[in-house]
Amino acid sequence: MRIDIITVLPELLESPLDHSIMKRAKEKGLLEVCLHNLRQWAVNAYGQVDDYQYGGGAGMVMMCEPLAKAIEQLKSERSYDEIIYVTPDGTTLNQGIANQLSLKDNLIIICGHYKGIDQRIRDHYVTKELSIGDYVLSGGELAAAVIVDSIGRLLPGVLNDETSALFDSFQDNMLAPPVYTRPEDFRGWKVPPVLLSGNPKLIDDWRYEEAYRLTSTKRPDLLK
Ligand code: ADE
Repeated sequence: MRIDIITVLPELLESPLDHSIMKRAKEKGLLEVCLHNLRQWAVNAYGQVDDYQYGGGAGMVMMCEPLAKAIEQLKSERSYDEIIYVTPDGTTLNQGIANQLSLKDNLIIICGHYKGIDQRIRDHYVTKELSIGDYVLSGGELAAAVIVDSIGRLLPGVLNDETSALFDSFQDNMLAPPVYTRPEDFRGWKVPPVLLSGNPKLIDDWRYEEAYRLTSTKRPDLLK
């Protein structure tokens, strides 16, 4: 899978995508993330990519021309399954959306800044608008990193057995059960005996019950 990210701050995305599981995805050739600095399509030698908004009001708006040129150049090189704009007024990302996106081959993600991007780019190029939650970040880059991470770890071959996404929270509309590691007894706080039983059926049942119990107390909305 290949993800092209259009941003005015590529540096902000370099580090988060170059560690741990995302690094492994890249090294295994399963995920290629290409960062594109929007300023290379700026309207003038000053690198301008934003301008005042029509109708007045505080805050700059990212201009049509640099974004249109960036998108058109990328589209001339390959076809894209989705052109995603990350914005607080988009659909809130969830595991189902991450699962669907992980099945695609090529994605573009556009990171907004300031007041956002000119509406005409949203109307004519963007195919999906995603938010990562009901709060406002100072730019779309961190949201894009969250989206890429949530997708990248689902690509077949990225996770190994121990980190398998099958048992993640949300994967069956349930939160994940509690987990324990050595020692069996830490300051008198003991690991639930069933986990030491060696009986896979009992362990599975216990995990399912715990997941159900946690979900019904913490996130009953998921069970509806
Ligand atoms: N840009 C700014 N805030 C955002 C959010 N919550 N989700 C996605 N993109 C954003």
